[in-house]
Amino acid sequence: MSYNSPKDNREFIERLKASGDLVTVNQEVDWDLEMGAIVRRVCEGQLSAPYFKKITDYPEFEAFGAPMATYRRLAIAMGLDAATPIPEIANTYVQRTKEKPIDPVIIEASEAPCKANILTGDDANLLHLPGPMVHDGDGGRYLATWHFVVSKDPDTQAINWGMYRMMVFDEKTMVGPVLPFSDMGKMFYGKYVPRNEPMPFAAVLSADPISSLAACAPSPIPEDQLAGMLRGEPVELVKCETCDLYVPAHSEIIIEGEVIPNVMIEEAPFGEYTGYRTSPREKRTVYRVKTITYRNDPIMMVSNMGVPTDEGQLLRSFSLGLEMHKLLESQGIPITGVYMLPESTHHLVVVGVKPAYTGIASQIANLIFGSKLSPWFHMVVVVDEKTDIYSKDEVIHALSTKCHPVRGIHKYDNQVGTPLNPYASPAERRMSQGAKVLFDCLFPLDWPASDLPLKVAFSTNYPQHIQEKVLSNWENYGYGQ
Ligand SMILES: Cc1cc2nc3c(=O)[nH]c(=O)nc-3n(C[C@H](O)[C@H](O)[C@H](O)COP(=O)(O)O)c2cc1C
Repeated sequence: MSYNSPKDNREFIERLKASGDLVTVNQEVDWDLEMGAIVRRVCEGQLSAPYFKKITDYPEFEAFGAPMATYRRLAIAMGLDAATPIPEIANTYVQRTKEKPIDPVIIEASEAPCKANILTGDDANLLHLPGPMVHDGDGGRYLATWHFVVSKDPDTQAINWGMYRMMVFDEKTMVGPVLPFSDMGKMFYGKYVPRNEPMPFAAVLSADPISSLAACAPSPIPEDQLAGMLRGEPVELVKCETCDLYVPAHSEIIIEGEVIPNVMIEEAPFGEYTGYRTSPREKRTVYRVKTITYRNDPIMMVSNMGVPTDEGQLLRSFSLGLEMHKLLESQGIPITGVYMLPESTHHLVVVGVKPAYTGIASQIANLIFGSKLSPWFHMVVVVDEKTDIYSKDEVIHALSTKCHPVRGIHKYDNQVGTPLNPYASPAERRMSQGAKVLFDCLFPLDWPASDLPLKVAFSTNYPQHIQEKVLSNWENYGYGQ
């Protein structure tokens, strides 16, 4: 059953326009910092997504910024009403991803919009695309900021879609970091590099919003099937020109080529998702370009990482939190919900649980710190089932009143991290070494009921009939709704 997600970015743009979540920018904007600065300000203010109609030097192209930097835009991407509350969007993700996987379908190149223009040889020139200078101080123009890279395992033939940023080095070369614990990292450094074999890749710039969500979700389900499950219908793929990879046919721009083993080129700095510039200019993974294909009137996609909230932070928090939810549920832990705060740049997760037995908070932390999701976050706050995990006020209240400053805080040193953690020392960052912490906000089960602090709130400290009387008279007292 189709869930009515936009088939491509053009349909997404139309829906955002209709819901009041898009601003069409008719004034010409410069790819050199101006476009990036606008997108940054939009993210920081949680404003409508900008649709740029004119880009300096690139009359053939348009651009679409901050595509999914708000829950409203995420809801629209999932075919839901823009005003759908966060818990309901989360529940929809969990339910859809428990259904049967939906395989993609292959369509002919003649029916695929992304094949309308095919550049080969000298014409396949990266400078023909309006890659923006996103932040002042970046090491170069970043063509791929909201995109995904398609690759294939040479032994199992498993397909991976993942977001790995790409800086333009020259007309034919891009370079970017591929972390060793990512699926592409394991495949490329673990298999292609030791065999000294180039790895075919296709970078998909501006896919439909759900394929992008699937590409950045840390789900064990292959991303092309996950996108189908989230859409409720298969993703339409088309074969690449130069290799045996398949890409979403309604994407705007496809860059095909090879990732080169045993050659590294300097990349970065870059403004990162943590809201800081942390990684130094260093030699990183090299992509050589063979062919570029694109739709007529192509639309580039621009994301701008920095302080919250951009789509990387929002969607990674959303999917990381919900994959933790599924993991904990699969282990029979009586959780009431998991919410990772986008404002934490996907570093802090709140888990609600029925405190059924002693040690349950540590069990939760051990499970999620020990999972594949682990490198990307380091703070776990466990609260009881009565705390609203989506309410920052309630979570801060629980943290400051129920977490014992010594016995409630559990520290884990020498853990897996990323090179981007601002809190880590330069040496720890070089080694991707992190640390973790659990904040256990559950009252111990062996406290006698008479000693348990009672929460003082309107909902807990007044008899039902008084609450009802006050609520029904609220406007009569002179208050609004
Ligand atoms: C906007 C954005 C940019 C990212 N850039 C990188 C990157 O440059 N290198 C990297 O290893 N991971 C990067 N990530 C994280 C991966 O995309 C993420 O881990 C993704 O789920 C792929 O996971 P997998 O490789 O484990 O399947 C980025 C994520 C987002 C949302």
